[in-house]
Amino acid sequence: MVLEFRSVTKEFTGRSGDFLTAVKDVSLGVKEGEFVSVVGPSGCGKSTLLSMTAGLYQPTRGEVLVSDRPVTGPNAHVGFMLQKDLLLPWRNIVENVEFGLEARGVAKAERRDRATAEMRRCHLEGFENHYPYQLSGGMRQRAALARTLAIDPEIILLDEPFSALDAQTKLILQNSFAGTIAESAKTTLLITHDLSEAVLMSDRIVVLSERPGSIVAEIAIDLPHRDQPLKRRVMPEVNDYAAQIFRHLRLEEKAA
Ligand SMILES: Nc1ncnc2c1ncn2[C@@H]1O[C@H](COP(=O)(O)OP(=O)(O)O)[C@@H](O)[C@H]1O
Ligand SMILES: [Mg+2]
Repeated sequence: MVLEFRSVTKEFTGRSGDFLTAVKDVSLGVKEGEFVSVVGPSGCGKSTLLSMTAGLYQPTRGEVLVSDRPVTGPNAHVGFMLQKDLLLPWRNIVENVEFGLEARGVAKAERRDRATAEMRRCHLEGFENHYPYQLSGGMRQRAALARTLAIDPEIILLDEPFSALDAQTKLILQNSFAGTIAESAKTTLLITHDLSEAVLMSDRIVVLSERPGSIVAEIAIDLPHRDQPLKRRVMPEVNDYAAQIFRHLRLEEKAA
């Protein structure tokens, strides 16, 4: 397993000293090259799971392992990408893509080679010398993906990377990300509140309950074209899978 959660519980202490259980007893394994999405209600602990994978938080109970090593602190083998691209406005795109390599002390020439290769893979060739403000929202997200991949992580974590984009940009970007990720063969954990996005992009979907988040269902997506969500999109099974996940979220009961 590239990623493993073993009975992970995470409690936070609020400002007034009260306990809040964000995640409860989550056990999950993600295999090499697998693409797993996590869906669940807002505040159920999805981002907390990613933060623990990146080593930004420690579990209260249980453990998180990346490539069989317990995560005990910020982990250089994990690439983390958020909804906001966090590109540095004063650096051009290739310098932004190089950023993680620079922090790791990679020499300038190698850094530039790797960043340029990742930019090509993310369809950003020719934009090396542009600045973030000169790029569209979709292109900035591709640059953020290139930066994430440039460090050659063992796993990539994507926390709602498409949620700020309009519907069509989103479809095109999902397709572009899926192709790039399949080509790089990276193990991926995606958080999304978009059920069809999860079906279009994943090998498997994990559904979490309301807080404290625990796993209520795991659904394997048995469809071809994981590298081309636009092809999956026209398949009738996509709606069946989305409906299945929707039922696990039990929204009608909550609305009643
Ligand atoms: N650093 C923190 N300190 C205290 N509470 C936190 C902290 N981080 C997250 N939480 C709480 O944990 C719960 C889960 O948060 P989060 O993982 O961000 O949910 P999601 O990503 O599913 O919306 C929320 O109630 C949130 O307020
Ligand atoms: Mg979140």
